[in-house]
Amino acid sequence: MNVGLKTQILPAGEAAVAAAARILAEGGLVAFPTETVYGLGADATNPAAVARIYQAKGRPAFNPLIAHVGDVAAARKIARFEAHATALAEAFWPGPLTLVLPKTENCAVADLATAGLDTVAIRIPAHPVAREILRVFCGPVVAPSANISGHVSPTTAAHVQSDLAGRIDLIVDGGPVAVGVESTVVGCFDAPMLLRPGGVPRAEIERVLGRALVQPPADAGTDSVQPLAPGMLTSHYAPRARVRLNAQRLEPGEALLAFGLGAISGIDAASIVMNLSERGDLDEAAANLFGHLRALDSKGVRTIAVMPIPNDGLGEAINDRLRRAAVGRE
Ligand code: TXA
Ligand code: MG
Repeated sequence: MNVGLKTQILPAGEAAVAAAARILAEGGLVAFPTETVYGLGADATNPAAVARIYQAKGRPAFNPLIAHVGDVAAARKIARFEAHATALAEAFWPGPLTLVLPKTENCAVADLATAGLDTVAIRIPAHPVAREILRVFCGPVVAPSANISGHVSPTTAAHVQSDLAGRIDLIVDGGPVAVGVESTVVGCFDAPMLLRPGGVPRAEIERVLGRALVQPPADAGTDSVQPLAPGMLTSHYAPRARVRLNAQRLEPGEALLAFGLGAISGIDAASIVMNLSERGDLDEAAANLFGHLRALDSKGVRTIAVMPIPNDGLGEAINDRLRRAAVGRE
């Protein structure tokens, strides 16, 4: 275990980007901001570096990583694009969309990073700091969210530090991220499949495809032999507190994670109230979600009651993460 490393923290800028590219080239681990959440990057073509990611996060090795690249030409070197994939890449890259595609024959991404699958997940991030690191490093960078496996994803450098200090080489601090939930993952199979709702709403993807996204089979992401979305473990994104969804009234002493300004009975007896978006804006709620969960958790509350959140736009991703946060904490 590489606990005991000295983790450097640098403000985003030329020096930080140069340090990040050098550390990646040497096989080290660098956390950096993307528009969705902070990622923990390693050289995708270096199996020892990729192994370090799994070790630092405590991540099960059957859960493959997303390869981040700077442009479509780099993406085409590692994966094959059919018509749906090309249309989605043109519409949403750079941006919060990940495509799962068949690997090319000479795909340089380490087998460990794809968990032995014949597909690879790819994304071109939009965040200027991520893009600059990819440009200077000049190769694919695998980057899961920069948190201990199973924890809430980090949306600030401080979140990364609290999970991974002593386990990674560098954190590039680019301030709080804009989107706040991870990328949408689409499997470009015969029928395009929504493997994980995320930063690009389903409806926008379906508009570009001209058809509905299919759902993964019910047992994908559990313990099935060849899960389609291996990362979609049922319990994930988990704070220590118990999470109670769709709360219509508050029990005494519960913390309230509110949405909008709607009334909820029992609020006077709440131990603490945080609002995802007082104006009921789902984009703002997504940006606040993981930070608010971490903040409530750090106060040591026993139960977080969450008001109902509409399922449109980014609401689908928010409700997905909240459901996972609620599992196994009864
Ligand atoms: O927004 C994001 O996607 C962030 C930033 C850092 O880019 N990254 C992220 O990575 O959320 P991670 O590792 O936390 O989630 C990647 C998801 C997992 O659910 C994983 O199982 C899935 O993508 N995945 C990766 N490769 C796959 C593949 N070949 N087939 C199916 N699912 C795959
Ligand atoms: Mg993650």
